[in-house]
Amino acid sequence: SSDHLRHVESMAQLPSGAGKISHLNAVILGETLASEENDLVFPSQDFSRQALVSSPEQYRIMYERSIQDPAGFWSEIASQFYWKEKWDPEVYSENIDVRKGTVKFEWFKGASTNISYNALDRNIEAGNGGKVAVYWEGNEPGDDDQLTYAELLEKVCQLANYLKHVGVRKGDSVVIYLPMLMELLISMLACARIGAVHSVVFAGFSAESLAQRIIDCKPKVVITCNAVRRGPKAIHLKDIVDSAINESVKGGVPVDLCLTFENQSAMKREDTKWQEGRDVWWQDVVPKFPTKCAVEWVDAEDPLFLLYTSGSTGKPKGVLHTTGGYMVYTATTFKYAFDHKPSDIYWCTADCGWITGHSYVTYGPLLNGATVVVFEGAPNYPDSGRCWDIVDKYKVTLFYTAPTLVRSLMREGDEYVTRYHRKSLRVLGSVGEPINPSAWRWFYNVVGDSRCPISDTWWQTETGGFMITPLPGAWPQKPGSATFPFFGVQPVIVDENGNEIEGECSGYLCIKKSWPGAFRTLYGDHERYETTYFKPFAGYYFTGDGCSRDKDGYFWLTGRVDDVINVSGHRIGTAEVESALVSHPHCAEAAVVGVEHEIKGQSIYAFVSLVEGVSYSEGIRKSLILAVRNQIGAFAAPDKIHWAPGLPKTRSGKIMRRILRKIASGQLDELGDTSTLADPNVVDQLIALSDC
Ligand code: WT7
Repeated sequence: SSDHLRHVESMAQLPSGAGKISHLNAVILGETLASEENDLVFPSQDFSRQALVSSPEQYRIMYERSIQDPAGFWSEIASQFYWKEKWDPEVYSENIDVRKGTVKFEWFKGASTNISYNALDRNIEAGNGGKVAVYWEGNEPGDDDQLTYAELLEKVCQLANYLKHVGVRKGDSVVIYLPMLMELLISMLACARIGAVHSVVFAGFSAESLAQRIIDCKPKVVITCNAVRRGPKAIHLKDIVDSAINESVKGGVPVDLCLTFENQSAMKREDTKWQEGRDVWWQDVVPKFPTKCAVEWVDAEDPLFLLYTSGSTGKPKGVLHTTGGYMVYTATTFKYAFDHKPSDIYWCTADCGWITGHSYVTYGPLLNGATVVVFEGAPNYPDSGRCWDIVDKYKVTLFYTAPTLVRSLMREGDEYVTRYHRKSLRVLGSVGEPINPSAWRWFYNVVGDSRCPISDTWWQTETGGFMITPLPGAWPQKPGSATFPFFGVQPVIVDENGNEIEGECSGYLCIKKSWPGAFRTLYGDHERYETTYFKPFAGYYFTGDGCSRDKDGYFWLTGRVDDVINVSGHRIGTAEVESALVSHPHCAEAAVVGVEHEIKGQSIYAFVSLVEGVSYSEGIRKSLILAVRNQIGAFAAPDKIHWAPGLPKTRSGKIMRRILRKIASGQLDELGDTSTLADPNVVDQLIALSDC
């Protein structure tokens, strides 16, 4: 193991040389870094020996090649896929620097391919038609199903043929509002097969959010199901879709067709509200279509999907991913970060409504011919052992989840874990937020029996795939660090002035140069794309995250530096929650901050002023929370409403969130300088109302 250490030390020079500790260090990381940075957890020799990348040297060679010769590196990998036509002659072109004109990334331009073909037909032609593509586990234990690659292709073709039949053409968009049924993956792959652009909306979003997304992308079809069971409850999704469509009709965007899957275990069709002429049962039409469907070849830069994500201003951003680069990137990152082998059984607990489900439930794994477990239910139903029950049932080898789930299961006690075997597990994964070292340790020691490396994958909706991640057999992990950049990725840490800082330091995380999986624009708003991501630090892509690098070159992500709150790994913009609150007729003003939360990472804390003459009451508190649930979704509901006769503002009227954050987290002795406030008295008023 001292050998390993030497390699790690030599890797410290990879991104940059030695440097000084920045003053930001203490601010961003507090005291933890100094002790954590020496905490190395090595993969076993057995694991490393069999790994795709088994040593720092092997990584170093591949990484250096990927940086020095991106075209050669990525075109070799891309050649493993099927392209109807090859790119010609350039592999990529980019302008990342706003000062030099429009920001534009292109990969494999001029090539044509199809991601659905590469995920299905290509694997079947290689002899894997009989391999299980998807194991589906329902909410109720014992309710399960499975599809081989050949069967999945048939289902995808039937839906693709149906969509073509109802007039969906290449470039048209389709909104998908489904829970984790196999039909969700089938819908994504069917759209991709015919060149339609899917826009999956997480089925926890409210009618208003769904309507907003429908209005933005004007889909030809909305695909949904009548209801879903989550734990003991049934949620009537079709009712939500109905009101979203009514809303979008008012907004000038009619929806002519709502394809509805009858999810019989949750609700019978007789009980489903129905609009004749617009609503069609999936089971009545789709199975009648042929099980073969010719592929629509699309340009590598044709759009594959839209996925909306929160930013620091009100309106959600339609992140647009294209086909070729995204395909190559998700497949490659999946393979290396999980050390995927053909015999693996892979389970990612994310929902396809988020980017993790797009890249690492559907596309990345299927492009590798992997067997994927899809789980419809909740991890604590019927009890907190459900995950490990599923791991044992399907002999899951690669298990990918979020820190919030780890923490919530950790609280329930080891008993729920240790009563299951879990011997099949090989690699664990974490995503969504920094994983705190104690949760990391529990995941590693208890869930993985101190045997399975943890891939703590840092990435974003915008990046398409992993950016900073362990390669599990290549180097020791440090609990809480996402470790090193993936091939082709050049992370840099910059200071407030946008200057790169070297060595051991803290600052803002940016990326230099494009990578194949990068988003290409914000749908319909390229200017916002440039302003949000490429203008803050000209010459770089700005991630919105703070980051530090330790003496060994390990990267430590420290959370968002913008007005975005990360609740259970879900990104929520403060402005969105504020605008939902102020839409309440009794709300005069609202300011929202994130506070640390034991399980969720952060929770939403709202300061609210009511209009003149209305007094604070439990009823209003409840209806304010309901306003957020209705406008965004239950997952964005504030945990706390703090009554605020006034908000701390500067003389120019800017709300000082720094002070609000301190009040929200009870750090009253750290309020800092309040003398620049227009009315310093509001701070005392707020403190007095802390417990109300
Ligand atoms: C933000 C992106 C990427 C899929 C899930 C969330 C945070 C994500 C990590 C990690 C530290 C992480 C960042 C990032 N984040 N993974 N392993 N370590 N932070 O996607 O909604 O686009 O959010 O999630 O703050 O910017 P997203």
